[in-house]
Amino acid sequence: IKNGLADTPQMGWNSWNFFACNINETVIKETADALISTGLAKLGYIYVNIDDCWSETERDSKGQLVHDPKTFPSGIKALSNYVHSKGLKLGIYSDAGAFTCQVRAGSLFHEYDDAALFASWGVDYLKYDNCFNLGIKPEKRYPPMRDALNASGRAIFYSICEWGEDDPASWAGKVGNSWRTTEDINDTWASMTAIADINDKWAPYAGPGGWNDPDMLEVGNGGMTYTEYRAHFSIWALMKAPLLVGCDVRNMTAETFEILSNEEVIAVNQDRLGVQGRKVHVYGHDNCYQVWAGPLSGNRLTVALWNRCSKPSTITAKWDALGLDSSTSVSVRDLWKHEFVLPNSVGSFSAHVDSHSCEMYIFTPQTATASE
Ligand code: DGJ
Repeated sequence: IKNGLADTPQMGWNSWNFFACNINETVIKETADALISTGLAKLGYIYVNIDDCWSETERDSKGQLVHDPKTFPSGIKALSNYVHSKGLKLGIYSDAGAFTCQVRAGSLFHEYDDAALFASWGVDYLKYDNCFNLGIKPEKRYPPMRDALNASGRAIFYSICEWGEDDPASWAGKVGNSWRTTEDINDTWASMTAIADINDKWAPYAGPGGWNDPDMLEVGNGGMTYTEYRAHFSIWALMKAPLLVGCDVRNMTAETFEILSNEEVIAVNQDRLGVQGRKVHVYGHDNCYQVWAGPLSGNRLTVALWNRCSKPSTITAKWDALGLDSSTSVSVRDLWKHEFVLPNSVGSFSAHVDSHSCEMYIFTPQTATASE
């Protein structure tokens, strides 16, 4: 999709992971306010995305989608004006089927009407789900909405939510700005790690304009420890995943804010090179010790040492696994401690990694001239 969007993965917030169907216009407005007041907006979290349940099950007499009058009495245009007045962008949700997953009217066979309606409301982002799809192939159901969005006259980010069923990476690059590669995340270590492993397999398909989407962040929702949420955020950033906050940003703990606001980790995600980092080396019993890495602009690398098991351990990244010459000297920046690890490393780098922790770094190879 050539809409000029998604040069880097999208950042913002989405209502589903915390609120599910319990949304209303007050929640959305207060969330927009909180993105500003906490400073998250300034760090790049600019999309305020309404998920399922904003609309009615039936279309109106003109065949248009309508907002739920009980929960969104002022309508979506008013909400979009509010969000825009804060310098943020509004996202909405529909479904490439007869109904959404929560049985509100879907957009299949109404693509042009609905895209035009979203554009008239000033919507900036569409998440497009996969329920009640009448058994029609996604390759047939998702392109019409791309064409309708393109024809709407507004640049609308197109997020394909097909749950990874029909290998979307292999076709969605021409269709959307991101595509889900897995089923829904839930707020557990088991779900988060399984999803990371699946999303990793699709890495070659990601790049500026279109990203693999391992689903939205659970950071701050309570089902994982601080250490596990830090790992979740680190790996999502390294994989160039969308960074869509999924907690109640009006009531974040200091720890949740510390994770979501780590500018050095965000900068890895938003690096202009746009190459998805990968699992590059796994060793130990049960694949406990994992090295994930990927290239960054300026000849740098991001490297994560992830302990997937229950005992603390030392994890080592060897230069050959990172594609570095064994004699290269590398400066190592710790992105969670916010300090350089001295002295520079040659050949390999090792660190103590607690159970379920993921230490994250930027490696900058020192050229001969620079070290002279
Ligand atoms: C399934 C999607 O994968 C979720 O992210 C969410 O949008 C729900 N549907 C809403 O019903």
